[in-house]
Amino acid sequence: MLIANMSPRTTGKTTDTGWLSHALLEDAEDYEVVGYDADHSKQFWSWSRPEKGDFAFPVHLQASAKFHVEVAPPMGKRIAMVDCGHTENHIFIADSILRVADLVILHMSPTAADWERICEPETAKPFKDILASSAPLRATGKPPETWVLLNRTVANASSTGYYREEMSKEGYSVFSTVIPRSERFGDSMGVPVEGAAKTAFGALVTEMKKRGLLPVGGQGASR
Ligand SMILES: Nc1ncnc2c1ncn2[C@@H]1O[C@H](COP(=O)(O)OP(=O)(O)OP(=O)(O)O)[C@@H](O)[C@H]1O
Ligand SMILES: [Mg+2]
Repeated sequence: MLIANMSPRTTGKTTDTGWLSHALLEDAEDYEVVGYDADHSKQFWSWSRPEKGDFAFPVHLQASAKFHVEVAPPMGKRIAMVDCGHTENHIFIADSILRVADLVILHMSPTAADWERICEPETAKPFKDILASSAPLRATGKPPETWVLLNRTVANASSTGYYREEMSKEGYSVFSTVIPRSERFGDSMGVPVEGAAKTAFGALVTEMKKRGLLPVGGQGASR
């Protein structure tokens, strides 16, 4: 399957993508991960390099508007993790990835600023409309399943529940698992990721499995 990690602007995507990839690798289901860096800033790819994060899986550079013809979503328990650029600035790449994505994770902080750029941007297309316009170009004829991941949350802050509700009102599914604001995650890019399964990202993998968003057990044969 292919998981597209997306957002209109800087929202913690690459950090989340690096950690979630490792939590998948560490999971008991023996997922295999292959990374694609579809952002011109190349930070996912750069983080993976031997002299930096030394990732145990490859990350390919793929910031291409022909992503959908160049990359075949893998089968079984092989998971393509795609770190996307800003949909605000690189809509053609986003449109291409959305043609083949099995799951979209929309990354955001529970803030008015991120909510506005996703739902009511002044100078761009609302993310919901980007998803909707992918439908006719997809094999299913429907937009890809999409889940919001709230990140950089602050313990006991009302913002987490408030924006979970606001995104639900917009029609989005929102993961129960949230990624807390922390120095460990915030300063992790460029260094190895260790023990991801024991963090909120491990809890996220468990939630994704429970929700049927990841292949488990004998489901290895299908996407
Ligand atoms: N859980 C976290 N806690 C604290 N800081 C975080 C966390 N996740 C990300 N950050 C910080 O937020 C900033 C943005 O993160 P990141 O670069 O991953 O976002 P991005 O969406 O990939 O941005 P861009 O689209 O510009 O590449 C960085 O300074 C990062 O260190
Ligand atoms: Mg990034």
